[in-house]
Amino acid sequence: MRNLITSGLRKLVRSESRYSQGDRQAKVIAIATVKGGVGKTTTAVNLAAALAADHGQRVLLIDLDAQGHCTTSLSAIIEEKSDLVAVHHILLSEERLEVLDAVASTEIEGLHLTLADPGLADAEGRISQKIGKELLLRDALEMTRTHYDLILIDCPPNKGNLTLNALLAADEVLIPTDLSPLSVQGADELIETVLTVRERLNHDLEVLGVVLTRVDGRTAKINDEIRSTIEEAWGGLVLEQHIGINTRIAQAQLKGEPIFTHDPDSRGAKHYRQLAREVLERLS
Ligand SMILES: Nc1ncnc2c1ncn2[C@@H]1O[C@H](COP(=O)(O)OP(=O)(O)O)[C@@H](O)[C@H]1O
Ligand SMILES: [Mg+2]
Repeated sequence: MRNLITSGLRKLVRSESRYSQGDRQAKVIAIATVKGGVGKTTTAVNLAAALAADHGQRVLLIDLDAQGHCTTSLSAIIEEKSDLVAVHHILLSEERLEVLDAVASTEIEGLHLTLADPGLADAEGRISQKIGKELLLRDALEMTRTHYDLILIDCPPNKGNLTLNALLAADEVLIPTDLSPLSVQGADELIETVLTVRERLNHDLEVLGVVLTRVDGRTAKINDEIRSTIEEAWGGLVLEQHIGINTRIAQAQLKGEPIFTHDPDSRGAKHYRQLAREVLERLS
């Protein structure tokens, strides 16, 4: 009998987190859209690096995509840690775990991240069975967010449970899109999802902006036309700073480092530095 009743009670008694309260209250930004290959991860990684290195922010980058590309993109500067808990386990565990349990530091002062977790692929379905399934990440950030100024969440390319968890944990959404029709449609779908989350789940979520990525300078005239069509539809949501196509960005990713250490004078570095400034202005 004793065995039957104690597990729930034990949880009631032991619901305190093992982390102490920090003195910050991070703004949480989900980087999301429905399409893959548009520069979500590239933007998440380089924006996080610029915010930490240039602006002295304490930044946590959470990788919610099972592909784990944040880890690949920063592999050369991650400081290994052995006892980390996988993010999917934090979300699914009956214990009260914090995202802090999954966090590794990097050589950039103030920049931390959660490491690649292939188990997230399988977590998508298992989350459906949980009560309060949209709020798992928000709960696991309760203490974590008091230790950072900014938390960026790199989302998978869909509107599944993990993205939904990111949206419910976030204050703001940053939507990257390139100028192809399918990407623009994907961004539009994500904006619709934000509106649904606001109305149905009563969550006060803002669109920080849409950032145009992989913009090809050689087709400037076509780009101008597409940009003005997009601006007509989304008005002030489109951020001033776009990210141009720049092979140095892809090379930096292959090397496992942010564009700023790989080639600080490249066009890609300038664009991401300027994007970080614009994001901070919009947040203030
Ligand atoms: N501005 C850019 N210039 C050149 N290549 C880019 C740029 N942005 C992204 N890429 C490349 O495009 C591919 C997809 O980008 P990624 O950030 O992984 O997209 P997502 O996370 O949306 O799937 C990657 O190989 C990346 O290196
Ligand atoms: Mg990605």
